[in-house]
Amino acid sequence: MKKKALIFGITGQDGSYLAEFLLKKNYIVHGVKRRSSTINTERVDHIYQEPHLKKRTFILHYGDITDSLSVTRLINEIKPNEIYNLAAQSHVQVSFESPEYTANADALGALRILEAIRFNKLEKKTKFYQAGTSELYGLNEKVPQNEKTLFHPASPYGVAKLYAHWITINYREAYNMFACNGILFNHESPRRGETFVTQKIVQALCKIKLKKQKTLFLGNLYSKRDWGHAKDFVEAMWLMLQQKNPEDFVIATGNQTTVKNFINLVSKELKLKIRWRGKGIKERAFDEDNNLIVACDKTYYRPLEVNSLLGDAKKARKKLNWKPKSSLKSLIIDMISSEMQKY
Ligand code: NAP
Ligand code: GDD
Repeated sequence: MKKKALIFGITGQDGSYLAEFLLKKNYIVHGVKRRSSTINTERVDHIYQEPHLKKRTFILHYGDITDSLSVTRLINEIKPNEIYNLAAQSHVQVSFESPEYTANADALGALRILEAIRFNKLEKKTKFYQAGTSELYGLNEKVPQNEKTLFHPASPYGVAKLYAHWITINYREAYNMFACNGILFNHESPRRGETFVTQKIVQALCKIKLKKQKTLFLGNLYSKRDWGHAKDFVEAMWLMLQQKNPEDFVIATGNQTTVKNFINLVSKELKLKIRWRGKGIKERAFDEDNNLIVACDKTYYRPLEVNSLLGDAKKARKKLNWKPKSSLKSLIIDMISSEMQKY
């Protein structure tokens, strides 16, 4: 019998890669999408085609992580072997503007799924993956960060994810459920949302190269992130649910780069020669003809910044036999080539 997976957040970056990955592993994949005024299944439309429809191996359902009834009903109807909770208001800066919604979706969303597994008496059958985040480390800049590093979240998003992290552990300990947290560091891809910094940089510099845009406006150029490829990271989610015992794992590349250096690397790949001048909010980059290419805008600064994230994924390497396949350079090339294909 084929295994059944249920993915909350199917229309997102990770949901789409995970669906592809699980279909290749011969799973029946159920995904939960929200109703929206325009079609938002762009990332999975290529999967949702004849062969899968005929064999009923990829099935989308309407639902919402803030709606207990839809969550409970779907879990009852599908009775999945594995549930992946990737649904979230996932933008850190937006969480400062919509903190209550972020808490409802990102913190209570996990609780709703865990409780629905219990309510439907599926504790023994259904394994649960919670999409945790390196944002949990927040102001704790002791690097590299691993499973034992103290959490100090620095945004409503981080705080909401902290609740989700602990409620997952609580249900594991209280009810003996197979429930795991992945503590994933930043991961990107051509499918990354346009308002996250890597995609914003790639899209803008490609357009600047093609003379379709003049300037890219950004916030803090000096925060450091450990950027990996989403395709590699979804494999780790699955691996966590294939272990004998449920545990939490850090997933990261172990390399750190500043936002500014990411801009330099993308510019280099695009053969855009840029020179930096100025300091702080006045720091800017110009091209060879002295055109302004990058400038800072205080709109993109956050009330509180997470300055330094660098993951230590030794536990995952040892127990899951997981390591990233993509380098930062190959990630950038993948993102640029996908962007350039649009033109
Ligand atoms: P993403 O592209 O923003 O996708 C988020 C998904 O959640 C989308 O499918 C979105 O649906 C869905 N969603 C949002 N609110 C929902 C609600 N109320 N009910 C049902 N679905 C809802 O995020 P991602 O990069 O794929 O990340 C996946 C998960 O991993 C998120 O939980 C994120 O917080 C976490 N995470 C991401 C990273 C990273 O670097 N990418 C690192 C650590 C953890 P719509 O398409 O309708 O908006
Ligand atoms: N989004 C954005 N836009 N970020 C900017 C900008 C800008 O114009 N300018 C500078 N930055 C800086 C942010 O201040 C942050 O320090 C860094 O670039 C990365 O920002 P994002 O790409 O928005 O990602 P994030 O690190 O805040 O959050 C992502 O990674 C987390 C894991 O650490 C998201 O995917 C979260 O959902 C995820 O949990």
